[in-house]
Amino acid sequence: MIALGVNIDHVATIRQARKTFEPDPVWAAAAAQMGGADGITVHLREDRRHIQDRDLEVLRQTVTVKLNLECACCDEMLEIACRTKPEQVCLVPEHREEVTTEGGLDVRAYRDVVVDAIARLHDNDIAVSLFVDPDPAQIELSAELNADRVEIHTGMYAEASGENRKQQFARLQAAAKQVAETPMEFDAGHGLTYHNVVPVSQLFELKELNIGHSIVSRSIMVGMEKAVREMKKLVNDYSLDRNNAAQLPV
Ligand code: PXP
Repeated sequence: MIALGVNIDHVATIRQARKTFEPDPVWAAAAAQMGGADGITVHLREDRRHIQDRDLEVLRQTVTVKLNLECACCDEMLEIACRTKPEQVCLVPEHREEVTTEGGLDVRAYRDVVVDAIARLHDNDIAVSLFVDPDPAQIELSAELNADRVEIHTGMYAEASGENRKQQFARLQAAAKQVAETPMEFDAGHGLTYHNVVPVSQLFELKELNIGHSIVSRSIMVGMEKAVREMKKLVNDYSLDRNNAAQLPV
């Protein structure tokens, strides 16, 4: 079964639009778990545009599935992570002006910073995932640096159409095969929706998907519990076929 991590950042985005107390991402996390979420993911950004420090603290006390903290590879965030102790930290690049995470972490360029971060998190018994592009060099180096998992960036696939979409999907397939030859677990996420997730759920050895915006969007219409249940069903109904010859159309 593929695990579904539900990213609840955008519940906090709505709250921060008025800087009030509602909707509370802590409630959203509880509802997501009722719908079958296997993990709750939050991105504590340096500018605190959505998730706040208080959210992370209360989530740590209340979430009963895996808590996955996405954060930049900086001292402040690593200190918060080591104090809060989520089960997992996913290291992502972060730029202040971006609307959302725009690309994978450049493990090669930030090698020394990443090495230190992984060691620090491992010392605190926190599993480390690196959010990287489907790029062979980045995947190879992630394994070399002892990451526990990689989350492969699906954004380029999600945004592509026509022939480019097929090419972007082929990159994800190659990444999946490459990760399977390392000790790392293979996860994927970013830009995935109810419309484009099925081919991704068929990728070889996929362990976990992290999905946020699309689930939160649907939850406004149908409620969080139902939105999560529908995504889990979609992902896992088709994933049963992933080792069969027939790959559903991309
Ligand atoms: N995975 C990572 C590493 C991310 O940074 C994000 C966005 O915060 C997601 C998954 C979820 O992306 P989306 O909101 O597009 O589903």
